[in-house]
Amino acid sequence: MHRPAKVLVTGGAGFIGQNFVHHLAAQQQPPRIVVLDALTYAANPSSLEPLVASGQVEFVKGDITELGAMEQLFAAGGFDAVVHFAAESHVDRSILGPDAFIQTNITGTYNLLKCALADWTARKLLDKARFLHVSTDEVFGDLMPDEAPFTESSPYRPSSPYSASKAAADHLVRAFTRTYGLPGLISNCSNNYGPYQHPEKLIPLMIIHALQGKPMPVYGDGQNVRDWLFVEDHCRALLEILLRGVIAQTYNVGGAAERTNETVVRSICGLIDERVAADPAMRRRFPDSPASAGGSCAQLVTRVTDRPGHDRRYAIDGRFLKESLGVGPREDFESGLRRTVAWYMENDQWWRRALSGDFSQWLARNYDLRALKS
Ligand code: NAD
Ligand code: DAU
Repeated sequence: MHRPAKVLVTGGAGFIGQNFVHHLAAQQQPPRIVVLDALTYAANPSSLEPLVASGQVEFVKGDITELGAMEQLFAAGGFDAVVHFAAESHVDRSILGPDAFIQTNITGTYNLLKCALADWTARKLLDKARFLHVSTDEVFGDLMPDEAPFTESSPYRPSSPYSASKAAADHLVRAFTRTYGLPGLISNCSNNYGPYQHPEKLIPLMIIHALQGKPMPVYGDGQNVRDWLFVEDHCRALLEILLRGVIAQTYNVGGAAERTNETVVRSICGLIDERVAADPAMRRRFPDSPASAGGSCAQLVTRVTDRPGHDRRYAIDGRFLKESLGVGPREDFESGLRRTVAWYMENDQWWRRALSGDFSQWLARNYDLRALKS
């Protein structure tokens, strides 16, 4: 087993990154942890403040697209592991503005690979260090309803600028590993959900709109399928891959929880209706939700124009990860969604912060374009 002494977590102020930092810091003998993040619109890292205050985590504000800054970071860092989350991660934003995705996801990853390779070569750590690149199942394109789930040998067929940029990054990691001997590992994971996810993504957006009495915009016919994984299960899998994964191997991580978007949205409505009906404090906190007036959030569900190039279905075959490292999801989707809805209802100060600034402009840009379908 690899036991890193000092881990660089890129993108550690984002959704999965901050959940991972908490998971890593909670280990019995945690390594030293440095979080590097550019603090884009997607970062909302208040949960890291106690870890930084106690000295368990060092935070560095920095941009992976700036090679000079990354060289300085590695020169002073003394890292023997990198867990690379930093990315532009939202498909809709990649459709409306792909440039940042090319810069961060491709050039940024390339910069990190160069810095890690140079540093670990100079310090003779190539056979000890590890570079875990956190990627997505979207690189495999989409599946039709009767197709078998993605495996580690599924061909790459990305559909969106986001998934194409992640695919390019995966190829660079693989190339550096094979050609230069960089100790690289890749994970390709399905849709995560849970605490600290930015309100632009399906599940938080729907929860927040239901609580605010705003339309809940379902793209197309609502029958697109995603394979949902509770974020803590992803973080457990990533740590196992980092510690015990085989260099040059890719690992698929999935939730074994395929659901249509329509089902997910209706489930969210049911959970909010139930909690609001039972809890007068929630009625006072969210007076604009139809549930607070005795109605149902389902009345807010609205069909809107589909996402261009919308992938129909993702599903992960998680057998290789289970058989090789003994890791699989623990949280089932219904209990995980209940926990998530409760978290967003109880932590509205967290997401209200994310709604300020750029977010209202994003809602106008993405959703005003979409004609109402029903
Ligand atoms: P996120 O958008 O919530 O967080 C991304 C973080 O990266 C943010 O804190 C942002 O400030 C930072 N960042 C962006 N550009 C940067 C730059 N140039 N330099 C430094 N930091 C920068 O994303 P997430 O949902 O937490 O996803 C994390 C990673 O996991 C991504 O690589 C994504 O492709 C991958 N992934 C996500 C999911 C999912 O369902 N969310 C599933 C599979 C894989
Ligand atoms: O599969 C892993 C990927 O999952 C990650 O690589 C991405 O970083 C992550 O954002 C996620 O991508 P998706 O495009 O699947 O997630 P999103 O939450 O944007 O959308 C989920 C589904 O919900 C998708 O079919 C589009 C639909 N949708 C989304 C939004 C934001 C809607 O119907 N309405 C919406 O308003």
